[in-house]
Order: sequence, then C-alpha cells, then structure tokens
Amino acid sequence: MPRAELADETLAAVVAAAGLDAPDTREGWEWRLQCALPWPVFDGYRRRRDECYAAAKDVNDVARVAAANDEFFAFVNAHPDLCRLFAAGRLGYYDALLPKVAARLRRAPPARILDLGSFAGVSTLYLGAAFPDSQVVGVEQHPGAVAVAEEASARCGLGNVSFACADYTEFDAGAFDAVVSLQALPAYLIPWLPSERPEEYARGSHLEAALGAPAAAVLAVARAVAAVRRLTTAGGRAVLHERVVGLPRALLFHHLLARAGLAVTDLCLAGWHSVSQRDVVQSFPLIVASAADGPVPFDEAAMTALYTQAGGPNLTGLPETCGVTFSGPPAHAAFAALPAPRDELCLRVGVKDGRRMHAYFGIAGGLWAYVYRCDTCDERKLSVGHLGIVPAMFQPGLDELARLQASGQLTDCEPPLDQFRYHVGERFNFSAS
Ligand SMILES: C[S@@+](CC[C@H](N)C(=O)[O-])C[C@H]1O[C@@H](n2cnc3c(N)ncnc32)[C@H](O)[C@@H]1O
Repeated sequence: MPRAELADETLAAVVAAAGLDAPDTREGWEWRLQCALPWPVFDGYRRRRDECYAAAKDVNDVARVAAANDEFFAFVNAHPDLCRLFAAGRLGYYDALLPKVAARLRRAPPARILDLGSFAGVSTLYLGAAFPDSQVVGVEQHPGAVAVAEEASARCGLGNVSFACADYTEFDAGAFDAVVSLQALPAYLIPWLPSERPEEYARGSHLEAALGAPAAAVLAVARAVAAVRRLTTAGGRAVLHERVVGLPRALLFHHLLARAGLAVTDLCLAGWHSVSQRDVVQSFPLIVASAADGPVPFDEAAMTALYTQAGGPNLTGLPETCGVTFSGPPAHAAFAALPAPRDELCLRVGVKDGRRMHAYFGIAGGLWAYVYRCDTCDERKLSVGHLGIVPAMFQPGLDELARLQASGQLTDCEPPLDQFRYHVGERFNFSAS
C-alpha cells in the first residue's frame, strides 16, 4: 500500500512512534478501512458519515447536523481500530495545520497547553513533542478515544503529555497558558446571515439580532467559546481552527469570541486536504486570540477583509469589442475601483427567496460601460466593456431581469422594470428592446 510523505518532521516522528500509517489517496484509505474493519463497523461508519454529509446539505436543520456529528464521533471513538484509522485519514490535516499552530505558540512558549477534543491524541502528542518543556493535556469526552490516545502516548514515550476524559465545557484543571482547538468546537452549527445591504459584505444589524435573541445553536457555540476563555489564563492564548464556512458564519463566530473576552491578534485562512474528507481543499480561519478580563471590541471589518480581499480590475489592453465579467469578491473590488465620474442607474428589487438585489447599469470615467448585480447573499457579478458595446452589454442584463420578473421571482421593483428599461435607454442613448 503506497504511503504519503509527511512534510513535517515532528509529525512524521510522532506518527511513526504511534504506529499510524499515512495513506496517500482516498481510495487507498477506504480500501484499508474495508480490509481492517469487521463489516458492521465499516458499514456503521459509512452510514453515519453519509448522514453527516446529507445533514450538512440542509443548513437550516441545525438539530439534524448536530445529532449526525455527535453520533458519528460517538461511533468512531467507540471502535479503537476505526478511531486509529480515522486519525490516519486525518494526517493531511495535521500536516497542514500543526506546524502553523506550533509556529504561533513558539512566539512565547506556554508552560501548560490544553488540547480540546483530543480524539486519537495525534495533535496532543505533536504539541508534546514540539514543546518538550511544556506540560500538554488532551481532553476528550469519549473514553474509547482517550484509550487510543493513551496507548499512542505510551508508544511515543513523551513524559510531558497526559489525557483526561471529560466534557471540556465542564472540565476543571485550572487555567492553561494556551488552549488549542482543532475542529473541536460546534462552530459548524452557526447560522448563515444575509448581508445588511446588497453592495456590502457587512452583516451589521443582522449580527446584533442573532446575538440579541440567540438560537439554541448559537448558545451551544457560545457555551463552548466561554469554556475556551475559562480554560485560558488571562493574557494567555487560544489557537482555534474551526469548521466555519463562509464569511457570515465567520463574522458571528468572531463576535462570540469578542463577547467571551477573546481578542483576536492573528488571523489567516489555513487550508488542507486529507483523505478522510471530501476530495477538495478546504480552508477555514486559523485564529489566535488573547484572553482578556472582559468582553473586547468586535472588529467586523478585519474578518470581512480577510474573506473578501481582491485586487481591482486591470482593463488595459481589453479589445474594443470585448467585455469581461468578474464574480464574487473580485467583482466587488472591481465595481468599487471603476473610475469617476460615474453615470449610473440602479434598480432595487426583492427576490422571492428573501434576498434584496441591486442592479446597476452605467458608464464609468466616460470610457467603460458596466452592469453590476449584487445581493444580500453575497452574489456579485460585474460585466465591463468599452463604451462601444453598450447595447451588447446592457440588453442581456435587462433581459435577465425581465425573465426573473416573468417567472414570478421578483417580489417588488423600484422603479418598476418597464420604467427602468425606458430610463436606461434614454440615459445611455440605446434602444432597449
Ligand atoms: C472533529 S474531531 C477533532 C479532533 C481533533 N482535535 C483532531 O483535530 O483530530 C472532534 C473531537 O472533539 C471531541 N469533542 C467534541 N465536543 C467535546 C466536548 N464538549 N468535550 C470533549 N470533547 C469533545 C469529539 O468527541 C471528537 O473526538
């Protein structure tokens, strides 16, 4: 069976000592699971994993997502061979993340480190090997995983590592200089929120509302975040890499950290690929937060910038007869960077699914014709071209709006669409059909 090379030497040494093999492909890893596990265990694992994926598709059914996730780890952690194999399947994740976590902790090596949700013990043992002068504790709620971790620890022979079986929201072993959590908080339960205005990514008052009358899922995350703060000494650090998908959820998570007294000092997106997960590179924020004595100010702009940074457009050399289209953050940046003066008309519409959408038709700097559509679900699309292609650029944009209206998708239009079409034709000297 081919083995994957691990880039990080400390991880490679821990993995070798613990007796874990790094599979190099998803197929190879699945094959190993099937060969090594009795059928009921493999089948039980596969059914629970599929339920996790199915539940994740309906983001509104938070209870189902939470139950599927809890059930999955309860099952994996109750079967030692599966637990070990699953940890081996996560080695790509550890290889990508643990050196980054260690680099952040090394800036001021902590005397005591707590690893939340330590699972099969790989991350805890890694931290023990990387920080031989620190005491490292892994806390995990399932006794089966703790037993697997303790067995791996005995093989590694690290005297500075121990494991505790407890729910970390109730765990009481004093405060630690550093608390690490790698996907151990229920942050994936955070609800998605619309943006406040179609033109902006900021959630503003929607964030306040979600925190003012928190849903059960938000309360569950807040409870876990409060535990992180309680377990970190004042002035100590929390290093978190959680399943927080997309900007709106990241903003709410960030806000919860601030309210709990965790001030973010370092933030980057950290991606990875591991064979135990879907065949995509995933990327979540890696956060370092310093523990303060009370709530700290929340900086929505910093997190927004992390997710949406993109350069402005480079339209140099664009042939006179061509247009270009940008979407997502580049469209947002390109729209903001279009030159002045801007002569534009805007249509404001409500969409049946609750979105608010704005559609701009205009001319920038006397040179560029553009159509920009943006909405409160972060969909942004900008088409730009030379003035000469106004009809080719504007007509499809107007047609698309007419199609949406004809299919009953638009709940309201300001101004009415017919009037808007007329104004566009009149202002830009173009006969809209
Ligand atoms: C996604 S796994 C990640 C494990 C590990 N940090 C890693 O990166 O491999 C989450 C683990 O956290 C554990 N966990 C979740 N909530 C917990 C809690 N409140 N107390 C203790 N362990 C918890 C689960 O049992 C599971 O083993």
